[in-house]
Amino acid sequence: MSDGAAAHAAELVAVAAERRWAWIVGAIIAVIVVMMVVTGLHWASMPPSRVETVDAKTLHLRGEFVESNLGTTLAPDGKVTVRLVAQQYSFVPQCLVVPEGIPVTFRATATDVIHGFVVGTTNANTMVVPGFVATFTTTFPSAGEHLMPCHEYCGTGHEAMWAHVQVLPRDEFLARARTGERLSCVAR
Ligand code: CUA
Repeated sequence: MSDGAAAHAAELVAVAAERRWAWIVGAIIAVIVVMMVVTGLHWASMPPSRVETVDAKTLHLRGEFVESNLGTTLAPDGKVTVRLVAQQYSFVPQCLVVPEGIPVTFRATATDVIHGFVVGTTNANTMVVPGFVATFTTTFPSAGEHLMPCHEYCGTGHEAMWAHVQVLPRDEFLARARTGERLSCVAR
């Protein structure tokens, strides 16, 4: 084979390889686009079964998330609910009180941007989105103190945004909750 013919053969091999890779990349992009369209249509046609909305502009004025209603409550039927609000760059209340060994339902919302929180090394973990109520129920197995940092980047003060959580022994919690007040461990 002459030098010219060898170069031509090498070029043909290179062109074939490039064309093959172009097809592979094109197929990957096509799969991703199809996935986006299918999941988008799926979510549009089958929204989550329960979405609770709340007006972020009037949170502080009326309804469930006014400041006097934030904190922990023990209902007459024994249900424990913690209500809190996340905002740049703090949680209200800054210190939460929960019982050991009793299911606790968290209800949280945000006033401004997306926040989130996780309680220490427990499975209590959620995003908090303005306009929506984030809710979950969990049980804390042992008494103790936890840090509760914001875990969604929410601005320049994000790393300084956290609350404290005190898990009280069951009897101590019940004794304090009997008063019917909204409990928290914020220093007054
Ligand atoms: Cu709030 Cu990060």
